[in-house]
Amino acid sequence: MDVGALFSVAGKTVLITGGSRGIGEMLVRGFVAAGARTYISARSADRCAALATELSDQGTCIALPADLSTPEGCAELASAFRAEADHLDVLINNAGATWGAPLGTYPAEGFDKVMDVNVRAPFLLTQELLDVLQAAASPEDPARVIMIGSVDGIQVPMFDSFAYSASKSAVHMLTRHLGKAVAARNMTVNAIAPGLFASRMTAFMFDEYEEQVLGAIPQGRAGTPEDIVGTALYLASRAGAYTTGAVVMVDGGFATLR
Ligand SMILES: NC(=O)c1ccc[n+]([C@@H]2O[C@H](COP(=O)([O-])OP(=O)(O)OC[C@H]3O[C@@H](n4cnc5c(N)ncnc54)[C@H](OP(=O)(O)O)[C@@H]3O)[C@@H](O)[C@H]2O)c1
Repeated sequence: MDVGALFSVAGKTVLITGGSRGIGEMLVRGFVAAGARTYISARSADRCAALATELSDQGTCIALPADLSTPEGCAELASAFRAEADHLDVLINNAGATWGAPLGTYPAEGFDKVMDVNVRAPFLLTQELLDVLQAAASPEDPARVIMIGSVDGIQVPMFDSFAYSASKSAVHMLTRHLGKAVAARNMTVNAIAPGLFASRMTAFMFDEYEEQVLGAIPQGRAGTPEDIVGTALYLASRAGAYTTGAVVMVDGGFATLR
């Protein structure tokens, strides 16, 4: 056994949605450093291009901006990818949105926005890309779909983000349902359920509730780029080839140890 190659993604083609900042940016930086040909997508074309340019001296990073809140946007990203490459080894459905409002005034538009970006988009994008995902996949090295779920899809969250927690629960079930549907087609589908990571989405928690949120994490700290990249590399490499339908918590024990 070549243990040194177990976690390698060198030469793999990877598409990361929501790669412009936060957890997605951590993943983009990790996969580029690991030698993957990495495509990054988000609505902000400027941010995608700036990150791709910054990382181009370390490896291959290509910007494919898209708005995944509509079915048309998902289809456009799939066809933009297909114009660039004939196969996709790893799809990371990371783009996400949240909406907080108290029960009683939670708006329908907020609920729809969260569901469209967090649940419909990963489903439609995966469906659109099935052909390129299958193109180079084999039983020994299946194509990988990695969903970014959340501990909020497992535990009732501290904040009034009703659509968000429901959407992440849906992502976890979608992971299993899709995993079953494509298992015989040389593809795995897994989810990572992050706990607390610093990002624009969680900035208000660090600004206003840091003691409370860190105090609720058994390991007593927020997640780091190494924590999320390490798990994604496992799921994307030879090491993770026989794992499918799993929801892997990367949360310092938040969802399971309390
Ligand atoms: N941070 C955490 O502690 C945490 C914990 C659990 C789960 N998560 C999940 O991790 C993922 C990343 O979150 P984050 O914390 O890194 O949030 P973030 O900093 O707000 O980043 C969200 C990313 O998604 C992109 N995005 C948002 N709406 C989009 C749309 N309509 N179309 C395409 N791209 C869109 C954003 O870029 P543009 O705005 O340019 O489009 C950005 O790149 C999400 O799925 C989130 O639910 C985060």
